[in-house]
Amino acid sequence: MSETSVHVTGSLDWIMAAALIAELRDARKRELELFSDLKEEQLVGPAMPIIEPPLWELGHVGWFQERWILRRLDEDEPLHPQADQLYHSFNIANARRWNLRFPSRSETLDYLAAVLDRSIGRLDGRQPSDEEVYFYRLAIFHEDMHGETLTHIRQTLGYAPPTLSASRVGHAAPAPEPGFEPHDVEIPGASYRLGGTTDIPFVFDNEKWAHAVTVRPYRISATPVTNAEFQRFVEAGGYQQRELWSDEGWKWRLESKAEHPVYWQRAGDRWLWRRFDALKPLKDYQPVIHVNWYEANAYCAWAGRRLPTEAEWELAASAEHSADGRGISDHKRRYPWGDEPPSPPRANLDSAAMGCLDVRSLPAGDSSVGCRQMIGNVWEWTADTFEAYPGFELDPYDTYSAPSFGQQKVLRGGCWATRARLIRNTFRNFYTPDRNNIFAGFRTCAH
Ligand code: AVJ
Ligand code: FE
Repeated sequence: MSETSVHVTGSLDWIMAAALIAELRDARKRELELFSDLKEEQLVGPAMPIIEPPLWELGHVGWFQERWILRRLDEDEPLHPQADQLYHSFNIANARRWNLRFPSRSETLDYLAAVLDRSIGRLDGRQPSDEEVYFYRLAIFHEDMHGETLTHIRQTLGYAPPTLSASRVGHAAPAPEPGFEPHDVEIPGASYRLGGTTDIPFVFDNEKWAHAVTVRPYRISATPVTNAEFQRFVEAGGYQQRELWSDEGWKWRLESKAEHPVYWQRAGDRWLWRRFDALKPLKDYQPVIHVNWYEANAYCAWAGRRLPTEAEWELAASAEHSADGRGISDHKRRYPWGDEPPSPPRANLDSAAMGCLDVRSLPAGDSSVGCRQMIGNVWEWTADTFEAYPGFELDPYDTYSAPSFGQQKVLRGGCWATRARLIRNTFRNFYTPDRNNIFAGFRTCAH
């Protein structure tokens, strides 16, 4: 079945299968566009413990699709006996992924194509079961997440920006709203239901399920912290003041010898930053990006601010003002602007812009309480350690969330490279607090 033709069978059975096939193909197209222009010597080295080699990334998404579609649903034998040894991320620490002997580029590409052909072929002309829909979506979203990973790997290694067919690079960037400046919004206290709701078509285990929490009144910034704001912290000697950092944060600061965000460089009285393979002037009104949780907290200590909790972040993104305008209603929005899926005037996603937009732009994406760009642009660190919600149960892919509980920090909202179909207000991302190569910034709350 080609991408453009659909069977008309007289029933609607083919719609779900056709939608899954289109998304499988779309996720794969993106993954290949992120990979294919890399030169031979860029496929593996130089080794860095916080990322994996691009060639490993590629093999891993094929392996994952095989694992959960062909091997789980059909109990097929693996196409390559070595696949689990090579590509099972839980068995092989990132740092060791550099030392494996990988199949070549063309062998890896052939493996991916073979798995995809079989995964698509087994859906042809029939209605998938609920179980099948679940595992196909798991494979699609997993590939989407790894597309973002491959994008930050290219940033980390200083490779050229990828060229994507869906790119809007070259189109005029949306204009900042005239007169808009970073400011706080006030949110009344509320009893709020934190977490995923059963109307969402696919939810990872860590998001299940919405449960009551009490949130006290708070003030949160309408925008993430900007480069200009963060620059003031850097220039005030924030990286040298021990008292602004936690013990763990200071340990990271000393070991990394960081004096400013990792990709920044001073040039006389100006600042530049390395975007992929090129040095660019730092733009005042873009959100600060590629800062870790320790840096975010040190900034907060200096500015007399704090990171939002997950509940505060999610409430600011999804709550609606009640009819009298003084409280919070029970309706929870899937996105800040409402329940319609993301679109470019509302959220910077899908690598369409291949970078961040001005924090004053995209007013159409504001949340009910007036927070801007909560979805897209930069992932936002929250104060919270990643923990299971009450009543947590492991999903079949049991090493997705659970090994990270208690170990990592939660980020919310997605970034410019996140796929629109993956993200929503309740989505929880998680990384260790030292990670500064991901597309992460933060917004702050008043004390
Ligand atoms: C949830 C984005 C942190 O990339 O490490 C991909 C997602 N897990 N394959 C990661 C994931 C397994 C995960 N993050
Ligand atoms: Fe993975």
